Amino acid sequence: MRASKQIAVLGGGVMGEALISGFLAGGKVSHKQVVVTDARPERLTTLSSRFGVGVTPSNTAAVTEADLVVVAVKPPVVPVVLEEIAPVLRGGAAVVSIAAGVTLAELEARLPGGVAVVRAMPNSPCRIRAGVVALAEGRGVTAETRALVGEIMEAVGRVIWLEEHLMDAVTGLSGSGPAYVYLFIEALAEGGVKAGLPRQVALELAVQTVLGAAQMVASTREHPAVLKDQVATPAGTTIAGLAVLEEAAFRGAVLRAVEAGARRSAELAGQRARQDDSGSKKKGTPA
Ligand SMILES: NC(=O)c1ccc[n+]([C@@H]2O[C@H](COP(=O)([O-])OP(=O)(O)OC[C@H]3O[C@@H](n4cnc5c(N)ncnc54)[C@H](OP(=O)(O)O)[C@@H]3O)[C@@H](O)[C@H]2O)c1
Repeated sequence: MRASKQIAVLGGGVMGEALISGFLAGGKVSHKQVVVTDARPERLTTLSSRFGVGVTPSNTAAVTEADLVVVAVKPPVVPVVLEEIAPVLRGGAAVVSIAAGVTLAELEARLPGGVAVVRAMPNSPCRIRAGVVALAEGRGVTAETRALVGEIMEAVGRVIWLEEHLMDAVTGLSGSGPAYVYLFIEALAEGGVKAGLPRQVALELAVQTVLGAAQMVASTREHPAVLKDQVATPAGTTIAGLAVLEEAAFRGAVLRAVEAGARRSAELAGQRARQDDSGSKKKGTPA
């Protein structure tokens, strides 16, 4: 990325830090290009000493020179932050929001017309640069902005551009998915303990099994069903285990978990929109 580009990260919490850490480790962004804000002074001290980035408690001060603004505060705080920065954003700046369930329409309504808007859904493995980031573009996103945002986000994981209406499904799959996989790893390890392995050995075997299987799918590009069939020899151990999972409707359970996550994401966005709506009606502003 060009060294002249300035990035402001608003909110230096878990995801803000994960993104900063990934940007810098990716080598395309220098600490001099990044400034971060937070509500807590002690977070700013930590982030400054950990990464050498610029810090300020003021969102407005952070964005005045920024080419790219990453909004990384909790969803209810997003309107407050956008209201603060809207008057001082540079023309031609791009705003990327990672707030779950905050729509492009909500973001655009609170930002001036010349500002490009992108909605992002990263997941927690972005902390170790092994995440996936789904991006949906709003108004004013030029090819240059798209390239800049894509390049920055690639530092923390794989980037996938999608239509915004798919974001709830993304939340149910890659947003919530790491927790489903943690549960599976825990269960695999427990199975190993039940079969007689020491706990630590069982956990190590479970982690490496999931990591290796994911890498097999990624690197061979074979469909998982093909890889599964290759290891399930007739009358063997694997087919015996697979039969138990099928009896327990494992695939159906995972499928419904993703669906439930997606549904909940849509519900939460709907709830917030209704709250915003009643808030603006109380203030006497048009809905
Ligand atoms: N965690 C995830 O895995 C994940 C995944 C995808 C998307 N997201 C999204 O990422 C966003 C951040 O999540 P998070 O888990 O990183 O939350 P977090 O750890 O609470 O980070 C948010 C930070 O922003 C600070 N803050 C509050 N008000 C502020 C203001 N007005 N200006 C600047 N900073 C302010 C908070 O300080 P206080 O604590 O003092 O309020 C906190 O340090 C959320 O919108 C979430 O939906 C998170």
